[in-house]
Amino acid sequence: MQRFTDENIREFEIRHNEILRRIAPECTVLLKKNGDFPLNGPCKVALYGNGARETIKGGTGSGDVNVRHFVTVEEGLENAGFEVTSKSWMDQYAACKAGETVRFYQKIREEAERDKKSVLAAALGKTPDEPEYDLPVDADADVCIYVLARNSGEGSDRQMKKGDFLLTDIEVRDIIQCADKYDKFMLVLNVGGPLDISPVKDEVDNILLLGQLGTVTGEVLADIVLGKANPSGKLTATWAKAEDYTVIMDYDLNDTCYKEGIYVGYRNFDAGEAKPVFPFGYGLSYSEFNTEIINSDLTDSIVTVSVRITNTGKYPGKKAVILYYSAPQGKLSKPAREIGTYAKSGELNPGESEEIVLKLPLENMASYDEGKHAWILEKGDYLITIDETKACAVRLDDETRVSSANCLNISTGFEDRKEHTDPASVNGIPLFTVNADSLTDIGHFDRSRIAYPERKEIDLSSFTDEELIRTCIGRYDPNSGTSIIGNAGNVVAGAAAESADFLSDKGFGKLVLADGPAGLRLATSYILNEKGAFGNEFASAENIVQFLDEPLKSALQAKIDTMKKISESAQKYYQFTTAIPIGTALAQSFNPEVAEVCGDIVGEEMGIYGVNVWLAPALNIQRSPLCGRNFEYYSEDPVVSGLTAAAIVRGVQKHDKCAVTIKHFACNNQEYNRFGSNSIISERTLREIYLKGFEICIKQSAPKCIMSSYNLLNGTHTANHYDLLTTVLRDEWGFDGVVMTDWGTTDDGFNMGIHGPSDSALCIMAGNDWIMPGNNKNYVRITEALEKGELNREDLEKCAGRILALSKEIA
Ligand code: BGC
Repeated sequence: MQRFTDENIREFEIRHNEILRRIAPECTVLLKKNGDFPLNGPCKVALYGNGARETIKGGTGSGDVNVRHFVTVEEGLENAGFEVTSKSWMDQYAACKAGETVRFYQKIREEAERDKKSVLAAALGKTPDEPEYDLPVDADADVCIYVLARNSGEGSDRQMKKGDFLLTDIEVRDIIQCADKYDKFMLVLNVGGPLDISPVKDEVDNILLLGQLGTVTGEVLADIVLGKANPSGKLTATWAKAEDYTVIMDYDLNDTCYKEGIYVGYRNFDAGEAKPVFPFGYGLSYSEFNTEIINSDLTDSIVTVSVRITNTGKYPGKKAVILYYSAPQGKLSKPAREIGTYAKSGELNPGESEEIVLKLPLENMASYDEGKHAWILEKGDYLITIDETKACAVRLDDETRVSSANCLNISTGFEDRKEHTDPASVNGIPLFTVNADSLTDIGHFDRSRIAYPERKEIDLSSFTDEELIRTCIGRYDPNSGTSIIGNAGNVVAGAAAESADFLSDKGFGKLVLADGPAGLRLATSYILNEKGAFGNEFASAENIVQFLDEPLKSALQAKIDTMKKISESAQKYYQFTTAIPIGTALAQSFNPEVAEVCGDIVGEEMGIYGVNVWLAPALNIQRSPLCGRNFEYYSEDPVVSGLTAAAIVRGVQKHDKCAVTIKHFACNNQEYNRFGSNSIISERTLREIYLKGFEICIKQSAPKCIMSSYNLLNGTHTANHYDLLTTVLRDEWGFDGVVMTDWGTTDDGFNMGIHGPSDSALCIMAGNDWIMPGNNKNYVRITEALEKGELNREDLEKCAGRILALSKEIA
């Protein structure tokens, strides 16, 4: 492992930022255009909005990557040669915001006292309100850019209020004023997910969803404004008016009933009256494209559609096409359309064409029949469209079971929403007739499956019971009995966890786990002493220690004291990593290559800094637009989620010694009461919406680890859920890696609400191999279960064996 003693920019940082700057424009979505952009060259720009200077590179929480520096919009434009003429507005806005931030912390303190929780817990994932101000938007300029930013993060959900999902009155006023006043105006959205922009949509001619693109955010905007890059992303979530979303969190309950069933996101909007402001899959380009279907075919029960994409506009650019299918209505109610697959052209010059081939195995269109415990294709016509254009149809002569599944015995106590959509006409397009028998037992999403490497059985005969138990718990400090999130290890500063220390005496290398998904989250600098690496974050930790509860408080204080003493004379080391675009932005590229390249960047940096397990990608479904962690996730659609995650996994795991951890398995779709909320879901909805992305990712990329989630699923903690972790994940899908808990779910000190924490012994029985970040209570509880015969050594050997096999493979 390399340790860097100077803080000078290193070659790979420059190289990685260059790569990002090249690919990140694909993640941005042009929502409106009138031809005023791109500009001919840099000029005087009036820059306004809360994201102009305080640009957001990614959301908050464990997904926030500590970087040396990232480029804000103001900086990006100035570096590109623009003269920003609205500096005084920006200074005054900053002063207003600072005042609001002071008020925010005061409110948090009061809330913490009232609810008897630590300030840290009360503040988690929350952001200060937008301040009130009345500043003139009158700077002299050739062009105006208004950057509207929103932040959110782990621990809290977003709110349907002004300054969050809604625009403030001041924002509406200023945006409309800027649109009127300046000849050329662009509204730039520096956000991690949808917001209701309906009050200004019709007043503004140019709208760009820049998103949050990590280190290069401001540079990418400058490149786009100057036409050095052309947006080619599409929305992976529906953008609608606040009142038109039907799935919005129910904040009062411990049990969240997913009564909408499979009608999530565009599946819901397609079934209703409300028209989205910008629909799923929407996105423009500076250029224009013509998409022509040139051939449709059915061979080996795979639909193949070839399209010719021609750039008919004035600018070079890329174009993504989406293949949707509409399954026939039958005994099971079906959405009007669902994504089958998608593809993207290369960069096409004006006048240039490219032929793209999209392939969809018929069994990927199957629905889940709870009564039959099987994926079935019902009899009837399956319409295939490319974006909005009908391509062909497949007529199935009878119902067929493409794949049997293990029974999950779920009863929700409610009926899922059902909708009837009239079948679309298949006249005038090629129609292929298929015999149902040819598809029986063909498998579900199996044709693109890649195999897990052969796992070497580990001889555990020399392990005592105690050693087996310790193997299954992350490294913790025996003196405090616990781990501190974000600094649980002593090998790599800022890592989120490590494997148990004693394993090195038994010849096993260290597994070092660090967060993502927007890059590799480490401490930016650290010192080394005889006990290991200590991150500089302890300096800022002084600010939070007073708000912590015991035993964390004493443990953290002790570390700060030690660190302070030694850091005076100690050698400092540095570890700067690259913040890649947030998950939603990566998915918006509709280009798996973009995601794979970002995975490759992360994998290289893991190698440089000695991390072998990355705690990402995160692919929960964006069920409600308010989920505070949606920015980490990809989409409201499971196929987009699964394909994007698989691409990232391939990028990371192409590095020999790197493993990913796909998370959070499963149905962790809200932050409110995240430790204690129980997601109640029918088996069909579970499999078609919430598990499908994980299934695709596992089959297409063989991720080495998976993380169970904080929430309960149908009354059982996911970490204790045998059916989820063994029956489906391992036995049915063939997952052959390590399952770990999310941090602090199991016999830990967090407030788990009415359902209580998950149980360490039940984790082992369910096939949740590793308990993270690890504490002494985990050890005591498993020991007791073993003594009482609730658990046997064989169960422990299975879990420990999988962790040790991973260590042999990558550590
Ligand atoms: C988050 C995980 C993260 C873990 C380790 C948890 O609070 O839910 O996504 O990987 O912490 O930091």
